[in-house]
Amino acid sequence: MSGPGDAGGRAGTLREAIRRHDHRYYVLDDPEVPDHEYDALMRELEALEEEHPGLVTADSPTQRVGAAPSASFPEVVHRVPMLSLANAFDEGEVRAFDRRIRERLGAQEGGGQQGSAEEGGGARQGSGRQQDSAEEGDARQDPEPAVEYTGEVKIDGLAISLVYENGRLVRGATRGDGARGEDVTANVRTIRTVPLRLLGDAPPALLEVRGEIFMPRAGFEKMNDAQRERGERTYVNPRNAAAGALRQLDPAVTASRPLSLHCHGTGAVSDDAALPPRHSDVLDALASWGLPVSPHTRVLDGVDACLDYHAGMGRRRDSLGYDIDGVVFKLNDLRAREVVGQVSRAPRWAVAYKYPAQEARTRLVGIDVQVGRTGTLTPVARLEPVVVGGATVTNATLHNQDEIDRKDVRVGDTVWVRRAGDVIPEVIRIDPERRPEGTEPFRLPGRCPVCGSEAARAEGEVALRCTGGLVCPAQRKQAIRHFASRRALDVEGLGRKLVDQLVERGMVSTVADVFGLEEGALAELDRMGEKSARNLVEGIGRARRTTLDRFLYALGIRDVGEATAAALAAHFGGLAALRAADADALTEVPDVGPVVAESVRRFFDDPRNGEIVDALARELSWEESEPVRARIGSETGSETGATIPGGAAAPSQAAALGRAAPSPPLAGKTFVLTGALDSMSRDDAKRRLQALGAKVTGSVSKRTDYVVAGENPGSKLDKAQSLGVSVIDEAGLAGLLGGAGEG
Ligand code: IVH
Repeated sequence: MSGPGDAGGRAGTLREAIRRHDHRYYVLDDPEVPDHEYDALMRELEALEEEHPGLVTADSPTQRVGAAPSASFPEVVHRVPMLSLANAFDEGEVRAFDRRIRERLGAQEGGGQQGSAEEGGGARQGSGRQQDSAEEGDARQDPEPAVEYTGEVKIDGLAISLVYENGRLVRGATRGDGARGEDVTANVRTIRTVPLRLLGDAPPALLEVRGEIFMPRAGFEKMNDAQRERGERTYVNPRNAAAGALRQLDPAVTASRPLSLHCHGTGAVSDDAALPPRHSDVLDALASWGLPVSPHTRVLDGVDACLDYHAGMGRRRDSLGYDIDGVVFKLNDLRAREVVGQVSRAPRWAVAYKYPAQEARTRLVGIDVQVGRTGTLTPVARLEPVVVGGATVTNATLHNQDEIDRKDVRVGDTVWVRRAGDVIPEVIRIDPERRPEGTEPFRLPGRCPVCGSEAARAEGEVALRCTGGLVCPAQRKQAIRHFASRRALDVEGLGRKLVDQLVERGMVSTVADVFGLEEGALAELDRMGEKSARNLVEGIGRARRTTLDRFLYALGIRDVGEATAAALAAHFGGLAALRAADADALTEVPDVGPVVAESVRRFFDDPRNGEIVDALARELSWEESEPVRARIGSETGSETGATIPGGAAAPSQAAALGRAAPSPPLAGKTFVLTGALDSMSRDDAKRRLQALGAKVTGSVSKRTDYVVAGENPGSKLDKAQSLGVSVIDEAGLAGLLGGAGEG
């Protein structure tokens, strides 16, 4: 028990800490502690103030909902205050929430949907308020029907109020301190999922919608990668990134950030909206107006169903694509909500049941350097094991030297680690106050830790890379996996585990060795038998016949993805011409700039790679064609399509003559593919179109030149027809590809 004196001091300390955290969280979008630590401080302060009411001050953080709005946006006064949610951290707290609700509803004669507050014969509180003793007796034998709740995900984003007048979005505002927020209308309007007009003929005069703005994880990772690549600030988590994006003074910046919205309630609403009396039906009504609502909301009967919902969403948490920090249970009956009421910060009719935090603090005991398929050296933090988001984490990525420098991460530091979804755990910041004496800044090595080749940082890049290419054992396994993968040479049966075994046993050291594998030796491997060995050898046999673009892609040349491989193959027609091309000749290929040209040159210039390519060319065959330059000049075409072994390919005569032609046949044309094609996959069609210089995009607009419609085309076909875009079928496509492509 603390005396009022101690309590006063402690309350002051807590308030100061909470204010500091509020500022970091709301104003700087850069919190110092995870939410649960903040929540613990707040709870302690609330408990102290409850015990010693004389200590409550008007400016105590318990007396308001959030932080004051920042000065850069005009202030908005919310017509109905934006409340916060009470938290529950275990089953007992959720049961207590449900019990309190049933008590309040039970105490209200004829009010709400409930009668008694009795729970399973357990002790009851406040039964003195019960007036009808006959009803109380009945309740004992026949427990009250369970209260109906909604279960919703609690997305870790930013609360937003959207005001629609006569169906038009007129205002978007942040929560601010709950009473007053910031006018972020211009920014909100840039978010694609926010309707600017409601659907339907008779929208209400006034509809204020409340929801959560958030950044899906994939968009967050992509955005941070891009920021990192440019050497700019990265965000520690999607919530802060969303807050940062929404608070941009330039709406164009907000527009470029991948924000989304889910609506979870209403604020001020005019009577003509005629909203239904159940919250779940209100959400349906919002959806019918075109407002995005969560697909995970459920109507739940009683507290046990709530607990099941929490467990079920917990299992799916990692696969949702966005961060949730808990689920929310809300009384579904809106009239009953009025009976239950609210306390200063939060309604009594809702509670957030939280999940374990996705960030945790631990000690960094070492830094290892891993080498990836393309030779990237990635520093990896070795950590004292720590549970983050329900899983134990012992390693986390540090990304690259720039990130290590920016965060000033050193061995021995106490660090914050974040883990969410399938994303690799990462060290997001250090705790400078816990740094021990004598730590040293960390520097990545100048040589590849696996093969000893020089590690170099390419111009304009943040990553250090091993220059060992196909000869570096670290890159070997991954090079072979990539080589055999479906979109490369598609060697059936040569999976990841098998590649690992083959490399570890020294049976394969370069991709070319794959073609020397024999059934007998393969059958001896773990998890292999004669049958799978035979299947693999057959799979390898089938892979021998390929296409030049697949082959080039399979080599894993840096910066050469499928589209570039296809463009190179189409442009040069054959391997020898490509190998002979200098950087200038390479940059004539559509979409090949100096960086890609340099990567291609560097690859073929390394004699060790050259040997491997020679060996492969002896094993594989593909059709070669005339280079684009020659093909375009000739009306009649020439003998192309002959199968020649790759190794025998010599620059064709036409290429040697070098008849000039400025651009590939489909340059400047934009295609959209929809529906299934018979003779090839959509990916192949895309590659072949790109190889001829076309651009292939995902959506139809006025700028689209052709829509290729296969079997069961989607809405893209309707769109094309409504915009008057030319539509061609598979035969038409074949004509374009054949006519322009095969000479
Ligand atoms: S209801 C009166 N529902 O959590 C209840 N809030 O801590 C007000 N949140 O400010 C909110 N998902 O930003 C509600 N399904 C959900 C939510 C949700 C996320 C956020 C919201 C609110 C905060 C409360």
